[in-house]
Amino acid sequence: MPTVYLNGSYLPEEEALIPVMDRGFLFGDGVYEVIPVYGRRLFRLAQHLQRLQNSLDAIRIVNPLQESAWTEVLEEIVCRNDGDDQAVYLQVTRGPAARRDHSFPDQPQPTVFVMSTPVTTAGTETGTAGITAITLPDTRWQFCNIKAITLLPNVLLRQQAVDAGTAEAILIRDGLATEGAASNLFITRDGSLITPPNGPTLLPGITRDLILELARKNDIPCREEDIPQPELRDADEVWLTSSTREISPVTRIDDRPVGDGNPGPVWRRMIDLYQEYKEAVRRGEAV
Ligand code: PDD
Repeated sequence: MPTVYLNGSYLPEEEALIPVMDRGFLFGDGVYEVIPVYGRRLFRLAQHLQRLQNSLDAIRIVNPLQESAWTEVLEEIVCRNDGDDQAVYLQVTRGPAARRDHSFPDQPQPTVFVMSTPVTTAGTETGTAGITAITLPDTRWQFCNIKAITLLPNVLLRQQAVDAGTAEAILIRDGLATEGAASNLFITRDGSLITPPNGPTLLPGITRDLILELARKNDIPCREEDIPQPELRDADEVWLTSSTREISPVTRIDDRPVGDGNPGPVWRRMIDLYQEYKEAVRRGEAV
């Protein structure tokens, strides 16, 4: 039985209960993070906690824990759960209120919840086959940079992709390919890496930022630039990235092959750099 953290207590998952009046339940009024763990070490923790802070600020919830308290709770959850590699999920909602009312309660008492699941992460081998995707109009709101728990559009978009026999939806807004339903987007062209710039149409992914960092450190040309839909169609390579997916090469989009229909050489180079980085994290030599 997994151990979870809820408002100051470590509990068996089935004993962790929230009131039905919690605004996370009633309104989806909250934010979250998913943090990978490699060799029982939290990956890019400072960046995840910074993004959490940005999301909390954006929806006007006062961060209920200091950075040191977050670190303590997250490390404790990793320690109490199975698996050297895990995915930690944390969620902060605006908490319960006396009655259902859209406007904020006078004195909100945020709900803090953390859980973790063991994972077998996608390595170089599992990624070799590539994944398929479809393009869909982005039906989400105008604050996609906030990691809000209100994920109904993402859920419907992903399910549409799954119903079409594919793994992910690549979202199109105003003619531009922005990101996946739960992942960031990269393309390559003539050996250069391109990803859309951060802004309100996409989530500033931690995996995305690490890929840019690794590219810059290893002289792989990269730029943050809009990707019009025709450029997605003509790209040499397309990748989707996230904390849980790592770097997935996309080999078919809308039933057409990407490039020659196989994961490309830039992906191979990057996944090696990424795996090397993860190993350094496992040895405690990187964060
Ligand atoms: N989702 N874009 C969206 C819409 C996402 O939901 C995610 C991650 C990303 C990638 O961000 P990161 O590299 O920081 O994981 C981009 C998580 C994994 C989820 O919802 O489960």
